[in-house]
Amino acid sequence: MAILEAANLVKIYGELGGEGSTTALNGVNLSIRKGEFLAIMGPSGSGKTTLLNVLSGLDKPTSGEVRIAGEEISRISGDRLAIFRRQQLGFVFQDFHLLDSLTVKENMMVPMVLEKRATDDIDRRVAELAGVFEIEPILDKYPYHISGGQQQRTAVSRALVNEPSIILADEPTGNLDSKSSTVIMECFEKVVDELATTVLLVTHDVFAASYCRKVVFIKDGAIHSHIVKKGSRKEFLHQIMDNLAVLGGRTDVF
Ligand SMILES: Nc1ncnc2c1ncn2[C@@H]1O[C@H](COP(=O)(O)OP(=O)(O)OP(=O)(O)O)[C@@H](O)[C@H]1O
Ligand SMILES: [Mg+2]
Repeated sequence: MAILEAANLVKIYGELGGEGSTTALNGVNLSIRKGEFLAIMGPSGSGKTTLLNVLSGLDKPTSGEVRIAGEEISRISGDRLAIFRRQQLGFVFQDFHLLDSLTVKENMMVPMVLEKRATDDIDRRVAELAGVFEIEPILDKYPYHISGGQQQRTAVSRALVNEPSIILADEPTGNLDSKSSTVIMECFEKVVDELATTVLLVTHDVFAASYCRKVVFIKDGAIHSHIVKKGSRKEFLHQIMDNLAVLGGRTDVF
């Protein structure tokens, strides 16, 4: 069964038919199954961030629908949407958005406290994820006293605490050197392989995309093509570059 299903998504910014209007999404159909590890790539301005915002309920489509875990999120709003996002979606941001005044453990606790989960349940979940991402020794430290890689692993752990249906990330390696990019992509691999969670990321970064199992290419607001990893990560990386070359546009990768 699909975890996420988008049908005929259209997003027009500005007044419909008006002079300054931009069609950012032009009939996107997308189906993501549980356990998929997928990247969306495309030239600058092709609609990647818009798509992610519409899929995550941050923004409403002009028409079309988005279903996540059976709920049509393109139709809900307010508190119901906020609760749905907190329970079903995990976000990893480009600059991680850790709260500096809270320890690693407290950062991880925030989404669970908002869900009013019991203390022993919270402690169990923190311990479990800290084990998977090897951050037990730093649970009581503050973000500015830990390394960049530890901050990333904290952010990924926090995104997972409420057992989301899907993890969404916009340019998670955007500000990172290649060593840190490797850390975060290996975290996502664990999320998929060990925790059986679905991961969707939007990226310009061929290196990051090569860790995924599938890459969907978007151009001018529509799905252009997709490729599935069959061989090694290196082979996939070359395949992604070939596809981007066909796609054209500015991709910031060369
Ligand atoms: N809030 C907005 N208001 C008006 N137009 C917008 C808005 N956000 C995006 N756009 C336009 O919609 C189109 C798609 O933008 P989007 O940000 O989704 O592209 P992107 O693929 O994420 O690009 P990048 O790779 O540069 O991040 C672009 O033409 C952009 O100028
Ligand atoms: Mg973008």
